[in-house]
Amino acid sequence: MSHHELKMKKNLKTIDLVLLGLGAVVGTGIFVITGTAANEYAGPGLVFSFMIAGLVIILIGLCYAEFSSRLPVAGGPYAYMLAVSGKRIAWIAGWFTIWEYLLASASVASGWSGYLNGFLTSLGIPLPTIFQASYDPEAGTYIDLIAILMTLIVTWLVAQEAKKALRLNNMLFFLKFILIALFIVVGMFYIEPNNWTPVMPFGFSGVASGATLVFFAFLGFDSISMAAEEVEAPQKSLPRGILLAIGISTLLYILVTVVLTGIVPFTDLGVKDPVAFALRYVDQNIIAAVISVGAILTLLTVLIAMLYGLARLLYAMSKGNLLPRYLNHVDNKTGTPQRATWVAGSIAALFSGIIPLQSLAELTNLVTLVVMMMLAIGIILLRKQQGEPVKGQFRVPWVPFIPIVTVLITGYLILQLGALTWLLFFFCFLAGIIIYFFYARKA
Ligand code: ALA
Repeated sequence: MSHHELKMKKNLKTIDLVLLGLGAVVGTGIFVITGTAANEYAGPGLVFSFMIAGLVIILIGLCYAEFSSRLPVAGGPYAYMLAVSGKRIAWIAGWFTIWEYLLASASVASGWSGYLNGFLTSLGIPLPTIFQASYDPEAGTYIDLIAILMTLIVTWLVAQEAKKALRLNNMLFFLKFILIALFIVVGMFYIEPNNWTPVMPFGFSGVASGATLVFFAFLGFDSISMAAEEVEAPQKSLPRGILLAIGISTLLYILVTVVLTGIVPFTDLGVKDPVAFALRYVDQNIIAAVISVGAILTLLTVLIAMLYGLARLLYAMSKGNLLPRYLNHVDNKTGTPQRATWVAGSIAALFSGIIPLQSLAELTNLVTLVVMMMLAIGIILLRKQQGEPVKGQFRVPWVPFIPIVTVLITGYLILQLGALTWLLFFFCFLAGIIIYFFYARKA
């Protein structure tokens, strides 16, 4: 083993993983996307959209948990599919996971910059218009400067020792949790039950489209399995961390949505900061301002966790010779994959600067749902090839029933996405195939 292949430090525990998971999960989805989702798609029925999306994530979380406890190696879906199928399939799973993390990081930075630009404008010190958002000549915007700068700063942080980046994440996580609790407790008193009717103004198809959109709010829980090589007792901690993080976030989202749609009629929710907006709506302006500033701070946690996962994925794929060996390098001093972190961060920064949020978020959901489908099938293959889990390992109940249901529901959600998203998806798929044949195949 050369000094380039030093082992990463194994010092993370279950609690670190739950916080890493929640740090990655609770963010733009609940603070930004809920507004549009209720307003345009689901109305008060958004709570059902969250339940559907949460159910899918729990199902897929079970599959992740079994994979991560039976194969505790870094690399997520790529490493899991490599264990049960050929290199080509594993490559596709890995390729789409790279895109999931890249696009999600860029989406979060872009949503975050929307908040901060709004905040600067309200203070009377707006940035010049050309720097305010991604490329849109009609609106006069060309590049999202804040999103780019923010992504680069977070990249620097994540390139430091893993424990340090995660410690900041833990602190911000508590702030985020307090803000959400504050919203639920204060908001509860302003619920006007009439706002909940009609429950499903756009019918069930609206609820289903809403589920496909708010699916984004759950992304990131899989970053837990990416940390496998840095976990003290992976067999026990990984499945616990994954299921706890999903359970807690599902509960939070349901509560926030019930309160949000109870305070504000869904027809008024087409705003960028729905959670703060709802409190302003009932004249709780000070608490609304606290939540706005808090949201700006805490969206950082999502970006930290996303870039953390992405860097480790690139590292693992390069270790398997599927990406250039340049990325397979652990820094002596910090014990982190520095080069992979900087490559990941720079590309995410570029995307966040030029591509609009909606395109980023929809494509993120599509690539992620495809990876999840592959993993559900992967569990069936894992059982066929390596038998049942042994004592101490996590077991998905009712195989193959649960994996099959997972494939059917993810398939249904995928079909709700628009033509443009599919077109971009095929380009991305094609690029993956080309890279595979010119580079990764030879590995
Ligand atoms: N789940 C993450 C968020 O909502 C991606 O920001």
